[in-house]
Order: sequence, then C-alpha cells, then structure tokens
Amino acid sequence: MKPQAVIFDLDGVITDTAHLHFVAWRTVAAEAGIVIDEHFNDGLKGISRMASLERILRHGGKEAEFDQAAREAVAARKNAIYVDALSQLTPESVLPGIPALLAELKAQGVKIGLASVSLNAPAILRALGLQTHFDFCADAGKLRRSKPDPEIFLAACAGLNVTPAQCIGVEDAQAGIEAINASGMLSVGIGKGLRQADLLLESTVELTWSRLQHFWNQQQREHAPSH
Ligand code: BG6
Ligand code: MG
Repeated sequence: MKPQAVIFDLDGVITDTAHLHFVAWRTVAAEAGIVIDEHFNDGLKGISRMASLERILRHGGKEAEFDQAAREAVAARKNAIYVDALSQLTPESVLPGIPALLAELKAQGVKIGLASVSLNAPAILRALGLQTHFDFCADAGKLRRSKPDPEIFLAACAGLNVTPAQCIGVEDAQAGIEAINASGMLSVGIGKGLRQADLLLESTVELTWSRLQHFWNQQQREHAPSH
C-alpha cells in the first residue's frame, strides 16, 4: 500500500525562508513603529502576506492608521525586501532529505504536489532548481481563503486528480497542519510543538520514503473497517 500523492508546503519544508520573511517584516514593522521578534514571527508561518500584515498592525495597535492603499504599499515594500533576499537561494538551500525523498517518490510513482500560499513559490522553486519536480503546484494567486482553511490542499488534490484520503500533506506551520487535517489528508508535521499532526518529525532529515510508507501502512491498518 502507498499513498497516491504527497503534497508539500514550501517555506519551512522544502527550504527555510522563515528568517528571510522575518527580516523583511521586521524592517517594515520598524518603519511603522512596531517591534516584532522571532517568536511573534513563528505565528506568521503559513499565513498569507496581507493577513501577516494585518497581524503585525494589530500587534502594534496601529490598524486604524493604515487604510487599504497604505497596507498595500507596506506589503509591496516588504515583498521587495524579501524578493531581494531570495537571490541568496541556490540548489544548496534545499533542506536535507528533500532531494532524496522527491527522487524516491518519483521512482515509486507517487505524485508530488505543492500547496504553498506564497505568491513567490514559482520563483523560489526555480532558484532551488526544483521547478520540474512537482506534478502540480496549486496557484496561491487564485486562493480565496488562506490556511488553516483546506482550500489550497484541496486545490492541489484536484490538480493531481487524487482524493484527499489517498494523500499525505507535509507542513511546518500550525495553520498548515490544521488545513491538511481539515482537507481529509493525513498530516505530517516538521518541527517541534505542532499540535494535531498525525505524524510529527523533528526535521526533514527524518522525512524519508520508508518512514512515510511505514506511517501510511500503519494508518491504513488502524482505520481499516473491521470484519
Ligand atoms: C508562507 C509563509 O509560505 O507564505 C508565510 O510561511 C508567508 O510566512 C506566505 O507570509 C506568503 O508569502 P509571499 O511570498 O506571498 O509573501
Ligand atoms: Mg511553511
């Protein structure tokens, strides 16, 4: 038994861009007189650009000072800083274990999907040299609801022509785990302290095909109808 597809989040699972997001947000937050730290930034993982800005303004008690046009200007400035920092990414920036897992999934005939809410996902995949490795990438630009809503994972399943019950989703953010669970897929969390992940691994080093296959078989046995 094996899953039909494995659907990956990008930031924090395929490569580690959280710090680059943080530095860019910290810069524009400081310009607005708001201080954020890495702990606050953890809560922005998996959250879309505009929703992240909303949280930062709320954190600083400055929501009333920024109308829609001002918010768009701040978000555009943050993105310009972030995109500039993305030039640091190379194929070496792919997290350990991921290239071997992608190769093994392909060899096993398991489809590979991407469910990232980042509008920069295509550019990041190109910088990592992974643009041809995914059978389908859900389009963040078409999303109406951000994680923890399951919309993006369901869009990835539809694009891969698979049902959620036949898939595994991999995430490093709490909002992402909740989105996977709500979609009806099995969830694998990467990192510490994620709640409700069906399988929690400390890092991508542990994210091997044999680990996923073992997990899949165990779950199918546990949920098989009893006779
Ligand atoms: C997610 C990140 O993958 O993408 C978030 O975890 C980020 O921190 C979101 O805000 C949107 O990214 P972008 O590149 O569209 O600003
Ligand atoms: Mg992530």
